[in-house]
Amino acid sequence: MISLKKFEAGDIQRLIDWVPDADFLLQWSGPQYVYPLDVEQLTATLEKTKGAHPPHFMFKAMQGGDVVGHIELMRVDYVEKKGVLARVLIGARQYRGQGWGKMMIQLALDFAFQDLTLKNIDLGVFKFNNAAIQCYEQLGFKTYKITPSLKDENWSLLRMKLDRNDWKK
Ligand SMILES: CC(C)(COP(=O)(O)OP(=O)(O)OC[C@H]1O[C@@H](n2cnc3c(N)ncnc32)[C@H](O)[C@@H]1OP(=O)(O)O)[C@@H](O)C(=O)NCCC(=O)NCCS
Repeated sequence: MISLKKFEAGDIQRLIDWVPDADFLLQWSGPQYVYPLDVEQLTATLEKTKGAHPPHFMFKAMQGGDVVGHIELMRVDYVEKKGVLARVLIGARQYRGQGWGKMMIQLALDFAFQDLTLKNIDLGVFKFNNAAIQCYEQLGFKTYKITPSLKDENWSLLRMKLDRNDWKK
């Protein structure tokens, strides 16, 4: 059973160790981070999670006593009631493909729609990322825009969104 806990400074090195190369960093997190991922970049993100109504949330995913994943909710707009799901990761390759990713995303959506009472969640995912797209579609996300990649069609970017009314709990 997966549960989410607040990501803290002590979790930074583990997350860095989960990112083996520049392509994976891009696949996982988009273009904001520069490879190699480091303490400075993650500390800057962690800073955005501070305060009473932060625009950004970082979670670690727990299975038993172990940390197995990571997920974020960013650009939270408390007025427009929207946010962006991001940086979704089951860290160790051998833990992927057994339902934990979908469970972790479900918990982040519970948090966004129930705790924060958001109405819309957006995300970006590359076209080749079948595991991620499967998770998102199964939870109700729909593609509304595809931005072609200049280099490689597989790196075309799908924008997907989920309205609270279409959320498949
Ligand atoms: C994306 C990710 C979080 C998904 O987590 P996961 O634990 O591997 O996925 P799950 O086991 O929960 O799978 C959910 C569904 O997707 C399907 N799926 C999983 N891997 C798949 C694959 N490679 N191809 C097609 N479908 C796949 C599963 O069959 C499952 O569907 P089902 O319930 O009908 O069987 C994980 O693969 C990961 O960390 N990938 C690397 C980082 C990344 O790309 N993050 C996404 C950035 S947008």
